[in-house]
Amino acid sequence: MAFKPRVPVKIGPFVLSSNVVLAPMAGVTDRAFRTLCRRFGAGLAASEMLSADVRLWNTRKSRLRMEHHGEPGPRVVQIAGFDPLMMAEAARRNVQEGADIIDINMGCPAKKVCNRLAGSALMQDEALVARILHTVVQAVPVPVTLKTRTGWNRDNKNGIRIAALAEDCGIQALSVHGRTRADMYQGMAEHESVAAIKARVKIPVFANGDIDTPQRAADILDATGCDGVMIGRAAQGRPWIFDEVNFFLATGEFRAELAMEKVRDIMRAHLEDLYALYGDATGVRVARKHLSWYFRQHPGQEALRDRLVTIETPGEQMNTLLEHFDVSVNRAA
Ligand SMILES: Cc1cc2nc3c(=O)[nH]c(=O)nc-3n(C[C@H](O)[C@H](O)[C@H](O)COP(=O)(O)O)c2cc1C
Repeated sequence: MAFKPRVPVKIGPFVLSSNVVLAPMAGVTDRAFRTLCRRFGAGLAASEMLSADVRLWNTRKSRLRMEHHGEPGPRVVQIAGFDPLMMAEAARRNVQEGADIIDINMGCPAKKVCNRLAGSALMQDEALVARILHTVVQAVPVPVTLKTRTGWNRDNKNGIRIAALAEDCGIQALSVHGRTRADMYQGMAEHESVAAIKARVKIPVFANGDIDTPQRAADILDATGCDGVMIGRAAQGRPWIFDEVNFFLATGEFRAELAMEKVRDIMRAHLEDLYALYGDATGVRVARKHLSWYFRQHPGQEALRDRLVTIETPGEQMNTLLEHFDVSVNRAA
């Protein structure tokens, strides 16, 4: 199979180390997970979305969402909101806190966001979109990027118009999830509309939606002409997917499955980072969902998974995990 050399994506002054990036996911892409995915070769890893209402930032949850200590650059912070001036202020404050790129969320269909006409609901009001993008781009000296869907609903697929006005407003890259807002997460993402958006603009475009294997990443890159791909759910419990996709895009070869000891070490380090980031009680709870995702890929581990997700202390959670791997590794040896 002939492989096209992939041109590195450039966003403002930043040349990305990979054209495969992590999607922002609220409740998932905290600093621990972002750092892990970057270590496995994600070219960018956006933060969980942060409300543009700075009055809400005084909670522990928001402060943790703004935590970038030790994170490799360029650091992307995603903001969600509906008011241009509030969005601009949120962008400015995040740049002061160390954001290298500001991403604007017009892709998330969550009710909490859309009730306030934010996230993907903004796509209904193109004049407001233009005001928000223009105001935020003017407010900060760093690149501003935009995450959208293909439209508001299937009768109003205005993703191309939104992309064109984003480019006019000075947005420096787009990521497009191949579903409309009304589709939520139903069916499969379609990338023909993503290809049409890519064809309309000159700025880099990342295709997003249901990219879960190296082969699919390559197929979608080729079919859409996009500059890169963005991976969300397929990275849950498999942060090394970025290495698998990068390797495949570079060589056309598939990586061997990771040895069990490697998986154990990744999980152990991930849990330690979560305990350090959140403290014991919250760290254990956040770790539970990551553990279920890691074990989702190992049928037959349901009993262990059920046990791990009820444990209340870091020591017991970690020991149970390591004991399981000791037994598994010894059995495999
Ligand atoms: C748990 C979860 C949280 C998400 N949170 C956000 C978010 O904060 N901001 C955003 O723009 N998109 C968010 N999304 C959408 C993803 O970034 C991505 O567009 C979507 O999951 C499709 O990509 P995938 O098929 O690779 O998962 C979220 C998705 C999931 C599953």
